[in-house]
Amino acid sequence: MKTRIYKQDDLENKLVQEDIKKTLLQGGNVIFPTETVYGIGAYALSEKGIKGIYEVKGRPSDNPLIMHVTSIEDVKKYTKEHMSYVETLMENFWPGPMTLVLKKKDIVPNMITGGLDSVGMRIPGHHIAKKVIEIAGVPICAPSANISGRPSATLFEHVLEDFKDKVDIIIDGGKSEVGLESTVIDVTREFPVILRPGVITKDMIEKLSIEVKENQEIDKSDVPKAPGMKYRHYAPKGQLIIVDGKLEDVISYMNQKIIEHTEKGLKTGIICTEDTKNRFPSAFAISIGNIENEEEIASNLFLTLRHMDKHDIDYIYSISFHQGKYSEAIMNRLMKAANYNVIQLDT
Ligand code: TXA
Ligand code: MG
Repeated sequence: MKTRIYKQDDLENKLVQEDIKKTLLQGGNVIFPTETVYGIGAYALSEKGIKGIYEVKGRPSDNPLIMHVTSIEDVKKYTKEHMSYVETLMENFWPGPMTLVLKKKDIVPNMITGGLDSVGMRIPGHHIAKKVIEIAGVPICAPSANISGRPSATLFEHVLEDFKDKVDIIIDGGKSEVGLESTVIDVTREFPVILRPGVITKDMIEKLSIEVKENQEIDKSDVPKAPGMKYRHYAPKGQLIIVDGKLEDVISYMNQKIIEHTEKGLKTGIICTEDTKNRFPSAFAISIGNIENEEEIASNLFLTLRHMDKHDIDYIYSISFHQGKYSEAIMNRLMKAANYNVIQLDT
Protein backbone atom coordinates (compact mmCIF):
# COMPACT_ATOMS: atom_id res chain seq x y z
CA MET A 1 0.00 0.00 0.00
CA LYS A 2 1.21 3.52 -0.79
CA THR A 3 0.17 6.08 1.81
CA ARG A 4 -1.28 9.32 0.48
CA ILE A 5 0.02 12.31 2.40
CA TYR A 6 -1.90 15.55 2.74
CA LYS A 7 -1.12 18.87 4.36
CA GLN A 8 -3.51 21.19 6.15
CA ASP A 9 -4.17 23.33 3.05
CA ASP A 10 -5.04 20.27 0.96
CA LEU A 11 -8.12 19.78 3.12
CA GLU A 12 -9.78 22.72 1.29
CA ASN A 13 -9.44 20.82 -1.99
CA LYS A 14 -12.64 19.04 -3.06
CA LEU A 15 -10.81 16.03 -4.49
CA VAL A 16 -8.87 15.54 -1.28
CA GLN A 17 -12.08 15.83 0.74
CA GLU A 18 -13.68 13.19 -1.45
CA ASP A 19 -10.68 10.93 -1.03
CA ILE A 20 -10.80 11.22 2.78
CA LYS A 21 -14.55 10.64 2.92
CA LYS A 22 -14.52 7.70 0.53
CA THR A 23 -11.53 6.10 2.26
CA LEU A 24 -13.17 6.26 5.68
CA LEU A 25 -16.63 5.16 4.54
CA GLN A 26 -15.13 2.20 2.69
CA GLY A 27 -13.29 1.02 5.80
CA GLY A 28 -9.86 2.55 5.26
CA ASN A 29 -7.66 4.25 7.86
CA VAL A 30 -6.75 7.93 8.02
CA ILE A 31 -4.21 9.33 10.47
CA PHE A 32 -4.81 12.91 11.56
CA PRO A 33 -3.47 15.28 14.21
CA THR A 34 -5.41 16.18 17.33
CA GLU A 35 -4.30 18.66 19.99
CA THR A 36 -3.27 15.79 22.28
CA VAL A 37 -1.53 13.26 20.01
CA TYR A 38 -2.05 12.00 16.45
CA GLY A 39 -4.92 9.54 16.04
CA ILE A 40 -5.40 6.65 13.63
CA GLY A 41 -8.98 6.93 12.48
CA ALA A 42 -11.65 4.64 11.09
CA TYR A 43 -15.39 5.01 10.52
CA ALA A 44 -16.75 3.90 13.88
CA LEU A 45 -19.46 1.70 12.40
CA SER A 46 -17.23 0.00 9.85
CA GLU A 47 -16.09 -3.44 10.89
CA LYS A 48 -13.37 -3.36 8.25
CA GLY A 49 -12.07 0.04 9.36
CA ILE A 50 -11.97 -0.96 13.02
CA LYS A 51 -10.29 -4.25 12.26
CA GLY A 52 -7.72 -2.33 10.24
CA ILE A 53 -6.84 -0.18 13.27
CA TYR A 54 -6.36 -3.14 15.62
CA GLU A 55 -4.28 -4.95 13.03
CA VAL A 56 -2.00 -2.15 11.94
CA LYS A 57 -1.39 -1.01 15.55
CA GLY A 58 -1.00 -4.54 16.84
CA ARG A 59 -3.48 -3.60 19.54
CA PRO A 60 -5.16 -6.20 21.80
CA SER A 61 -8.84 -6.43 20.87
CA ASP A 62 -10.11 -5.98 24.45
CA ASN A 63 -8.64 -2.47 24.62
CA PRO A 64 -11.49 -0.15 23.56
CA LEU A 65 -11.33 2.80 21.17
CA ILE A 66 -12.47 6.38 21.66
CA MET A 67 -15.21 7.64 19.37
CA HIS A 68 -14.63 11.17 18.06
CA VAL A 69 -17.49 13.46 17.03
CA THR A 70 -17.95 17.23 16.61
CA SER A 71 -20.97 18.06 18.77
CA ILE A 72 -22.62 17.18 22.08
CA GLU A 73 -25.74 16.31 20.06
CA ASP A 74 -23.73 13.63 18.28
CA VAL A 75 -22.43 12.31 21.60
CA LYS A 76 -26.03 11.85 22.69
CA LYS A 77 -26.88 9.88 19.55
CA TYR A 78 -24.53 7.15 20.70
CA THR A 79 -24.85 7.28 24.49
CA LYS A 80 -27.61 6.87 27.08
CA GLU A 81 -28.95 9.44 29.57
CA HIS A 82 -26.36 10.77 31.96
CA MET A 83 -26.10 12.50 35.34
CA SER A 84 -26.34 16.32 35.37
CA TYR A 85 -22.68 16.89 36.29
CA VAL A 86 -21.73 15.28 32.96
CA GLU A 87 -23.37 18.17 31.12
CA THR A 88 -21.16 20.59 33.07
CA LEU A 89 -18.02 18.69 32.08
CA MET A 90 -19.07 18.60 28.44
CA GLU A 91 -19.83 22.31 28.34
CA ASN A 92 -16.63 23.32 30.08
CA PHE A 93 -14.03 21.05 28.50
CA TRP A 94 -15.30 20.23 25.01
CA PRO A 95 -14.02 20.64 22.39
CA GLY A 96 -10.76 19.67 24.07
CA PRO A 97 -8.44 17.07 25.57
CA MET A 98 -11.10 15.16 27.53
CA THR A 99 -12.72 11.76 26.91
CA LEU A 100 -15.90 10.80 28.75
CA VAL A 101 -16.79 7.15 29.25
CA LEU A 102 -20.59 6.94 28.98
CA LYS A 103 -23.15 4.13 28.80
CA LYS A 104 -23.44 3.20 25.14
CA LYS A 105 -26.49 2.72 22.98
CA ASP A 106 -26.86 -0.50 21.02
CA ILE A 107 -25.78 1.07 17.71
CA VAL A 108 -22.22 1.40 19.04
CA PRO A 109 -20.52 -1.82 17.92
CA ASN A 110 -19.07 -4.05 20.65
CA MET A 111 -15.98 -4.28 18.54
CA ILE A 112 -14.90 -0.76 19.48
CA THR A 113 -15.71 -1.07 23.18
CA GLY A 114 -13.94 -4.35 23.79
CA GLY A 115 -17.31 -5.81 24.80
CA LEU A 116 -17.97 -3.18 27.53
CA ASP A 117 -21.39 -1.54 27.84
CA SER A 118 -19.75 1.89 27.85
CA VAL A 119 -18.02 3.94 25.17
CA GLY A 120 -15.33 6.63 25.37
CA MET A 121 -16.44 9.81 23.56
CA ARG A 122 -14.38 12.86 22.68
CA ILE A 123 -14.91 16.13 20.81
CA PRO A 124 -11.40 17.16 19.80
CA GLY A 125 -10.44 20.84 19.62
CA HIS A 126 -7.88 20.60 16.82
CA HIS A 127 -9.13 22.22 13.60
CA ILE A 128 -7.78 19.39 11.39
CA ALA A 129 -9.36 16.68 13.55
CA LYS A 130 -12.67 18.55 13.42
CA LYS A 131 -12.39 19.02 9.68
CA VAL A 132 -11.72 15.31 9.07
CA ILE A 133 -14.77 14.27 11.11
CA GLU A 134 -16.89 16.88 9.30
CA ILE A 135 -15.66 15.74 5.89
CA ALA A 136 -16.46 12.12 6.79
CA GLY A 137 -19.85 13.09 8.20
CA VAL A 138 -19.72 10.08 10.54
CA PRO A 139 -18.18 9.33 13.99
CA ILE A 140 -14.52 8.40 13.84
CA CYS A 141 -12.79 5.97 16.18
CA ALA A 142 -9.21 6.90 16.81
CA PRO A 143 -6.64 5.47 19.17
CA SER A 144 -3.25 7.13 19.40
CA ALA A 145 -1.29 6.71 16.16
CA ASN A 146 1.56 4.54 17.38
CA ILE A 147 2.40 0.87 17.10
CA SER A 148 1.00 -0.69 20.28
CA GLY A 149 3.46 -0.32 23.16
CA ARG A 150 5.48 2.51 21.59
CA PRO A 151 5.38 6.15 22.69
CA SER A 152 2.39 8.02 21.22
CA ALA A 153 3.19 10.12 18.17
CA THR A 154 3.13 13.90 18.56
CA LEU A 155 5.00 14.73 15.33
CA PHE A 156 4.18 13.93 11.71
CA GLU A 157 7.67 12.38 11.35
CA HIS A 158 6.92 9.95 14.18
CA VAL A 159 3.66 8.92 12.56
CA LEU A 160 5.57 8.18 9.35
CA GLU A 161 8.08 6.04 11.29
CA ASP A 162 5.29 3.73 12.46
CA PHE A 163 2.76 3.85 9.62
CA LYS A 164 4.24 4.90 6.28
CA ASP A 165 2.69 2.69 3.58
CA LYS A 166 0.63 0.83 6.18
CA VAL A 167 -2.42 3.14 6.16
CA ASP A 168 -4.31 4.86 3.34
CA ILE A 169 -3.88 8.50 4.31
CA ILE A 170 -1.74 10.52 6.74
CA ILE A 171 -2.44 14.22 7.32
CA ASP A 172 0.52 16.34 8.37
CA GLY A 173 -0.49 18.81 11.07
CA GLY A 174 2.90 19.53 12.60
CA LYS A 175 3.34 19.10 16.34
CA SER A 176 0.49 18.14 18.66
CA GLU A 177 0.35 21.05 21.06
CA VAL A 178 -0.67 19.25 24.28
CA GLY A 179 1.51 16.18 23.73
CA LEU A 180 -0.25 13.86 26.22
CA GLU A 181 -3.42 11.92 25.47
CA SER A 182 -6.78 13.14 26.71
CA THR A 183 -7.94 12.83 30.31
CA VAL A 184 -10.25 9.78 30.37
CA ILE A 185 -13.11 10.16 32.85
CA ASP A 186 -15.65 7.47 33.72
CA VAL A 187 -18.97 9.28 34.14
CA THR A 188 -21.26 6.29 34.39
CA ARG A 189 -21.82 6.66 38.17
CA GLU A 190 -22.83 9.40 40.66
CA PHE A 191 -19.36 10.93 40.63
CA PRO A 192 -16.68 11.09 37.95
CA VAL A 193 -13.61 8.86 38.17
CA ILE A 194 -10.41 9.80 36.36
CA LEU A 195 -9.16 6.67 34.60
CA ARG A 196 -6.26 8.33 32.79
CA PRO A 197 -4.85 11.67 33.98
CA GLY A 198 -4.26 14.41 31.43
CA VAL A 199 -4.21 18.18 31.14
CA ILE A 200 -7.85 18.43 32.22
CA THR A 201 -6.94 17.92 35.84
CA LYS A 202 -8.73 16.91 39.03
CA ASP A 203 -8.33 20.51 40.28
CA MET A 204 -9.97 21.94 37.19
CA ILE A 205 -12.97 19.64 37.66
CA GLU A 206 -13.22 20.41 41.39
CA LYS A 207 -13.29 24.13 40.56
CA LEU A 208 -16.67 23.42 38.97
CA SER A 209 -17.87 22.08 42.35
CA ILE A 210 -17.88 18.52 41.09
CA GLU A 211 -16.54 15.87 43.42
CA VAL A 212 -14.13 13.69 41.48
CA LYS A 213 -12.18 10.55 42.33
CA GLU A 214 -9.06 9.03 40.90
CA ASN A 215 -8.96 5.44 39.79
CA GLN A 216 -6.68 4.33 42.62
CA GLU A 217 -9.05 5.78 45.26
CA ILE A 218 -11.82 3.43 44.19
CA ASP A 219 -12.23 -0.14 45.28
CA LYS A 220 -10.84 -2.02 42.29
CA SER A 221 -13.66 -4.53 42.26
CA ASP A 222 -16.13 -1.67 42.05
CA VAL A 223 -14.95 0.14 38.95
CA PRO A 224 -13.63 -1.17 35.67
CA LYS A 225 -10.18 0.22 35.03
CA ALA A 226 -9.43 1.70 31.64
CA PRO A 227 -8.67 -1.62 30.00
CA GLY A 228 -5.69 -0.07 28.25
CA MET A 229 -3.90 0.47 31.54
CA LYS A 230 -2.84 -3.12 31.99
CA TYR A 231 -0.68 -3.16 28.87
CA ARG A 232 2.95 -2.14 28.45
CA HIS A 233 2.98 1.44 27.25
CA TYR A 234 5.04 4.15 25.66
CA ALA A 235 8.19 2.08 25.90
CA PRO A 236 11.34 3.37 24.24
CA LYS A 237 13.75 0.71 22.95
CA GLY A 238 16.40 1.58 25.51
CA GLN A 239 15.80 0.84 29.18
CA LEU A 240 14.24 3.84 30.88
CA ILE A 241 14.96 4.52 34.55
CA ILE A 242 13.48 7.39 36.54
CA VAL A 243 15.70 8.89 39.21
CA ASP A 244 14.02 10.65 42.11
CA GLY A 245 15.61 12.67 44.90
CA LYS A 246 17.43 15.94 45.58
CA LEU A 247 18.54 17.46 42.30
CA GLU A 248 22.27 17.43 43.08
CA ASP A 249 22.10 13.78 44.17
CA VAL A 250 20.19 12.88 41.03
CA ILE A 251 22.78 14.58 38.81
CA SER A 252 25.73 12.85 40.45
CA TYR A 253 23.98 9.46 40.41
CA MET A 254 23.31 9.82 36.70
CA ASN A 255 26.87 10.90 35.94
CA GLN A 256 28.16 7.86 37.84
CA LYS A 257 25.89 5.62 35.76
CA ILE A 258 27.08 7.28 32.55
CA ILE A 259 30.66 6.32 33.45
CA GLU A 260 29.68 2.72 34.27
CA HIS A 261 27.72 2.26 31.04
CA THR A 262 30.38 3.93 28.88
CA GLU A 263 33.03 1.56 30.26
CA LYS A 264 30.90 -1.31 29.00
CA GLY A 265 30.51 0.31 25.60
CA LEU A 266 26.85 1.19 26.20
CA LYS A 267 25.20 4.46 25.24
CA THR A 268 23.45 6.52 27.90
CA GLY A 269 20.79 9.15 27.35
CA ILE A 270 19.56 11.67 29.90
CA ILE A 271 16.15 13.33 29.99
CA CYS A 272 16.59 16.57 31.89
CA THR A 273 15.47 20.19 31.85
CA GLU A 274 16.94 23.38 30.38
CA ASP A 275 18.73 24.31 33.62
CA THR A 276 20.46 20.94 34.02
CA LYS A 277 21.31 19.93 30.45
CA ASN A 278 24.92 21.13 30.73
CA ARG A 279 25.55 19.01 33.80
CA PHE A 280 26.02 15.73 31.85
CA PRO A 281 29.18 16.31 29.82
CA SER A 282 29.66 12.78 28.54
CA ALA A 283 26.12 11.66 27.82
CA PHE A 284 23.47 12.34 25.20
CA ALA A 285 21.35 14.76 27.24
CA ILE A 286 18.03 16.06 25.94
CA SER A 287 16.29 18.96 27.60
CA ILE A 288 12.57 18.32 27.69
CA GLY A 289 11.86 21.96 28.51
CA ASN A 290 12.01 24.58 31.18
CA ILE A 291 11.34 23.12 34.65
CA GLU A 292 8.77 25.86 35.28
CA ASN A 293 6.92 25.30 32.02
CA GLU A 294 4.82 22.17 32.47
CA GLU A 295 3.03 22.73 29.14
CA GLU A 296 6.38 22.48 27.39
CA ILE A 297 7.45 19.39 29.32
CA ALA A 298 4.15 17.63 28.59
CA SER A 299 4.33 18.44 24.90
CA ASN A 300 7.91 17.17 24.57
CA LEU A 301 7.70 13.93 26.55
CA PHE A 302 6.77 11.43 23.84
CA LEU A 303 8.95 12.96 21.16
CA THR A 304 11.94 12.88 23.54
CA LEU A 305 11.44 9.15 24.14
CA ARG A 306 11.33 8.57 20.40
CA HIS A 307 14.39 10.75 19.95
CA MET A 308 16.32 8.45 22.29
CA ASP A 309 15.36 5.49 20.07
CA LYS A 310 16.69 7.30 17.00
CA HIS A 311 20.08 7.51 18.69
CA ASP A 312 20.09 3.86 19.77
CA ILE A 313 20.47 4.69 23.43
CA ASP A 314 20.81 1.62 25.69
CA TYR A 315 20.04 3.26 29.04
CA ILE A 316 17.87 6.33 29.47
CA TYR A 317 17.78 8.12 32.82
CA SER A 318 15.08 10.68 33.44
CA ILE A 319 14.63 13.17 36.22
CA SER A 320 11.16 13.07 37.78
CA PHE A 321 8.59 15.84 37.48
CA HIS A 322 6.69 16.58 40.66
CA GLN A 323 6.14 20.27 40.09
CA GLY A 324 3.23 21.98 38.42
CA LYS A 325 -0.36 21.14 37.54
CA TYR A 326 0.45 18.50 34.92
CA SER A 327 2.90 16.52 37.02
CA GLU A 328 0.41 13.72 37.56
CA ALA A 329 -0.26 13.28 33.85
CA ILE A 330 3.43 13.51 33.00
CA MET A 331 4.54 11.06 35.69
CA ASN A 332 1.75 8.65 34.71
CA ARG A 333 3.20 8.36 31.18
CA LEU A 334 6.82 8.41 32.30
CA MET A 335 6.28 5.69 34.93
CA LYS A 336 4.58 3.42 32.38
CA ALA A 337 7.31 4.06 29.83
CA ALA A 338 9.85 3.07 32.51
CA ASN A 339 7.79 0.04 33.49
CA TYR A 340 7.73 1.57 37.02
CA ASN A 341 11.50 1.42 37.29
CA VAL A 342 12.33 4.21 39.76
CA ILE A 343 15.54 4.81 41.71
CA GLN A 344 14.68 6.61 44.92
CA LEU A 345 17.72 8.47 46.29
CA ASP A 346 16.13 10.17 49.30
CA THR A 347 16.07 7.37 51.81
O1 TXA B 1 -5.99 12.02 23.27
C1 TXA B 1 -6.49 10.92 23.04
O2 TXA B 1 -7.33 10.39 23.79
C2 TXA B 1 -6.05 10.21 21.75
C3 TXA B 1 -6.55 11.03 20.56
C4 TXA B 1 -6.21 10.41 19.23
O3 TXA B 1 -7.91 11.25 20.68
N1 TXA B 1 -6.56 8.87 21.72
C5 TXA B 1 -6.10 7.92 22.54
O4 TXA B 1 -6.66 6.67 22.34
O5 TXA B 1 -5.25 8.10 23.39
P1 TXA B 1 -6.09 5.33 22.94
O6 TXA B 1 -6.92 4.29 22.31
O7 TXA B 1 -4.65 5.27 22.71
O8 TXA B 1 -6.42 5.39 24.46
C6 TXA B 1 -7.75 5.30 24.89
C7 TXA B 1 -7.82 4.94 26.36
C8 TXA B 1 -7.37 3.53 26.62
O9 TXA B 1 -6.63 3.48 27.84
C9 TXA B 1 -8.71 2.80 26.76
O10 TXA B 1 -8.57 1.65 27.56
C10 TXA B 1 -9.58 3.86 27.41
O11 TXA B 1 -9.17 5.06 26.80
N2 TXA B 1 -11.00 3.61 27.10
C11 TXA B 1 -11.61 3.74 25.90
N3 TXA B 1 -12.91 3.38 25.99
C12 TXA B 1 -13.13 3.01 27.27
C13 TXA B 1 -14.25 2.52 28.00
N4 TXA B 1 -15.44 2.31 27.42
N5 TXA B 1 -14.09 2.25 29.31
C14 TXA B 1 -12.91 2.45 29.91
N6 TXA B 1 -11.81 2.90 29.28
C15 TXA B 1 -11.91 3.18 27.99
MG1 MG C 1 -2.60 4.89 23.11
